[in-house]
This record gives sequence, C-alpha cells and structure tokens, in this order.
Amino acid sequence: MKRNLVFSLTFLLIISSCTNKPVEEGLTAKNGMVVSAREEASKIGIEILKKGGNAFDAMIATDLALAVSHQSAGNIGGGGFMVYRKANGETGALDYREKAPLSASKDMYLDKQGNVIKGLSLAGAMAIGVPGTIAGIFEVYEKFGSLPIETIFQPAIDLANKGVVVTTKQSAKIKSHLKYFKLVNKEEILFQEEINAGDTLRFPNLANTLDRVMKKGKDEFYKGETARKLVDFIKDNNGIISLKDLELYEAVWRDPVEFEYDNLKVISMSPPSSGGVCLEQIMKMIEPYDINDLAHNSLDYIKILVEAERRSFADRSYYLGDPDFVSIPKEQLVGKEYLLERMSNFSFDSPTPSNEISYGNVEILESDETTHYSIVDQFGNAIAVTTTLNGSYGSQLYCSELGFFLNNEMDDFSSKPGSPNMFGLIGGSANKIEPQKRMLSSMTPTIVEKENKLFMTLGSPGGSRIITSVLQTILNVHEFNMSMNRAVNSARFHHQWMPDIIKIEQNSFNSKLIQELKLFGYNIDYKDPIGIVDGILVKPNGILEAGADKRGDDTAVGF
Ligand code: GLY
Repeated sequence: MKRNLVFSLTFLLIISSCTNKPVEEGLTAKNGMVVSAREEASKIGIEILKKGGNAFDAMIATDLALAVSHQSAGNIGGGGFMVYRKANGETGALDYREKAPLSASKDMYLDKQGNVIKGLSLAGAMAIGVPGTIAGIFEVYEKFGSLPIETIFQPAIDLANKGVVVTTKQSAKIKSHLKYFKLVNKEEILFQEEINAGDTLRFPNLANTLDRVMKKGKDEFYKGETARKLVDFIKDNNGIISLKDLELYEAVWRDPVEFEYDNLKVISMSPPSSGGVCLEQIMKMIEPYDINDLAHNSLDYIKILVEAERRSFADRSYYLGDPDFVSIPKEQLVGKEYLLERMSNFSFDSPTPSNEISYGNVEILESDETTHYSIVDQFGNAIAVTTTLNGSYGSQLYCSELGFFLNNEMDDFSSKPGSPNMFGLIGGSANKIEPQKRMLSSMTPTIVEKENKLFMTLGSPGGSRIITSVLQTILNVHEFNMSMNRAVNSARFHHQWMPDIIKIEQNSFNSKLIQELKLFGYNIDYKDPIGIVDGILVKPNGILEAGADKRGDDTAVGF
C-alpha cells in the first residue's frame, strides 16, 4: 500500500461499486470470539471464555469439539500447528505435526521398479503418521491453561455422547466417501450407514476415549490403554506404527516466522510448515508494487500474485522440510536482494512459464481438508490454529473401538522426489521420508499486528491453497479495505508453480477476465472451494469482527 488516502478512498468507492460481492460486516463482539468450521465447536469455545478461561483453554475445548463435530478434518488422530500472540505482545508457535514412524523409509511407497505405488500413502494404515494432536493440546494446557482440565474437556465429551446434527454439506461429504470407507475398513464403520442432513450422529466410543485422556492425561494416548488399542488396530490393518513411536512423540515449541509488510507485522507458522516462509516470500515479492492501485481481482492483480506464488512454490519444493532434519536457508530465501532477483524477470507483458523456473508437467489430485479456527479472548490473547487429517477423513481408516479417523499425513512427504502428492505439490529431497521426521505442510495459521496492536487472526484448510487463501484475505483487508466478512468470502485464485495452471473458483470471475487471462498465456482451471478461511479482525475501536467462510459450515460466536 503506497498511496495517499484520498486517492485510496476514491478508488475504493469505485471498486465497491463495480463488484458484486458480499459487503456486509460479519458478526461483531466486544469481548471474545471463536470462528471455526462448526457452530457447536465455536459455541463450546465461547462458553470456556465466558467461564473465565483464556484463548488457550478455548483452543483445547474447540479443538476437541471439532474432533467430535467435524470428523473429516477435526481430529485426535492427526496433527496441527498453533500460532499465538498474547495480550502483552509475546508471540510463539506450537508444532504438533505428525511424524514418520521409526520403521518408515525413503522408498516405502515405491515398487521394485522405483515407481510410486498408487494410493499407499493416501489410504489405509501405511498412510498414517504418528498423531500429534493430544500431545499438542496438553503442551498448550501445561504452558497456558487456566481452567481445570475437566472443565475444558467435558463439553466435547458431552457433545460426543449427545450427538451432532449432520449438515447438508457433511452428509454430501460422507456419501462421497462411502466407497473409500468400504474399501479401506475391514468392518462396517459408523459412517457407512445411510446418513442424511438432519440426522444425529452419536460417538460414545470417542466420548470414552476423551474421558480416559481427560482423567489420565497425555500418557493415556501415547503409553496407556488407548495407545495399546491404537497400535493393535494399526497392526491389524498392516500398518507400521509401534508403541515406541507413540511413546516418543512430543509436540515442539517453534519460533514463528515474523516479518513486516507495509505497517503490518505478520506472524505465521515456521517449518515444518511452508506456510509462513511462502507467505513472507510472496508478500515481500509483491510489496514493491502499488497493489492498491490495481482493482481487486483484476488482470494485473492476478498476474502479480500468480507470478510471485509460482516463484515461491518452486522454492518450497526444493528447500523446505522438517528443520530438525534439514538445514533451511531461511534468511536467504526471504532476503530482499534474493526476492528482487527472483522477480526480476516478472513482467506485466508476458507470463513466466513454470518450466523455465524448474521442471515438467504433473497431474493434480486435490482435497479440501484440514480445518482452521481463530480465537480472541477477553484478555486480548489471540490464537490461530490449523489442524488436519490431511485428506478428507484422512486415511479413511476409522478405529471404531476408539471412535476416530486416522490421518494420511505420510502423503505430505515426497514419496519420490519429482512426483506430486495429493495436492499436486512436488517435493525435493529436503522432504524425503526419514524415521521420526515431520512431513512438510502448507498450513498457515497467521496473526497480523498493525502498529504493534493485534489486527487479525486467520487461517484456512485447503492443502497448498491454504497459503494463497491466507495471502489474499490479508490483502483484501489491508490493500482493499474490506471488512473481515467480505475479505474471507471474496473470490479466490491459486497458482502453485506446478502444475502451471491458475485455479479459480467457478462463477466468481467474469468471462471477460477469464478470456484476458487465457489470451495472456495462462492455463485456467476451476476449483471449488479455494480455501475456507476463518478469521477475526480487530477494528480500530477495538470491536472484533468475524469472517466465517460461507464456503463451509463455518460459524462465528462472540460475546
Ligand atoms: N495436509 C495438508 C498440509 O499439512 O498442508
């Protein structure tokens, strides 16, 4: 943002009058707010705040409630990342990403000819990474928790017993996965019955698991009865996760990625997520340009974002992996000179083909899963959490006795350098499989400060599209002065270097613009949705405004 205010306001009026987008503000609240993928989870989070709990207590309660009510992505069988900013300005990040089991190996998904065995890293027990969610939750509780653990866990246990009303979107998702559930699970699972919108699903076995974990702590999941049952189940399904793998699992506090963009400070997730580094690279590549001189989602705006995204995703593939295993040249990757050089061949006159940046064309398989929630409490603490099973319902393997799905996060490793994963992302050897290593992620839980004050907390599901969804939402608010609600609900586009295609949301961009993009030389394809962003904006008067993405069942609750 580089121009004078009068011009900006005039321009804004022109943009507003030209666009046919939601303009209304989202829910506002004075004290605290939770925005998540399910109303039940947001309500449970808010109830914790109302009881005097802080954002970290609400994080745990919301996370568990999502594990009950949003089982395609909310989980205790997966992992995630949290970025936080305390009221005093202190920031930090927690990594509870899954890990490769001890007996994992670089070539475990390759056949004798060295080809990737289709589906092995995607479905069934071999696809599972050692789950991190319960370790993450207890790490948060030990460091920041303020209410008794029973107060925080009980609402999710009650919800699991009482049941969750299935929404239209959930019912459609379950139906579209029925064939995979049948294929992967030896016995019929709860989700295989005919499930329609309005039905109530109860999860007594999940309630029992959560109850045991509440009473006995983290060790119940990693060393106790739950651990033994889980390992037996995985073994019975020909998986390789052992009791030793569970015993060794630890969540890790990391320094978040922090950088400035105009008068903003962006705080985002560091490796093993690529989210923060890519966000920093892209925002720094576009910062020298007068972004708000361009109309929102105009041809030139799309060009500049796409070209920066292309360059950043190419770097992602080569350089990023688990920092406990590989040395990441982070300072160089986000250095001013390096990024200027990276954009030196950018031109508004012609695109840069991806194969001039690096190698060949690949196919893409996609999933929209993962889930994000944002919380601001009455004390001024803010958190951004993105958690995942990877694909929708993860490995599709459901442990009926314990009541939860297991992730297929192993697919986020590069099974074979140069071959794409389910998001079409190509990995280099920095992200090769090694025992105990964390697979590279795109999750981008992000907090933004403006003039040293909390400004936004946001994030999204969507695999590789997470990074570009978070980016565009921040720019919508900062460069185009949108409300949070409008920012999250505006149309989005995505480019990830390979395949060399701009993905755009259907019916969101006019045909003239699409034609212009094609004439310019871009390959266009459609994808719905591109991210499902949940965020909270702190307005200048201190009031919180929610952005709950209409692409999902996402709901904000405040008080
Ligand atoms: N499994 C999606 C991600 O971590 O980016």
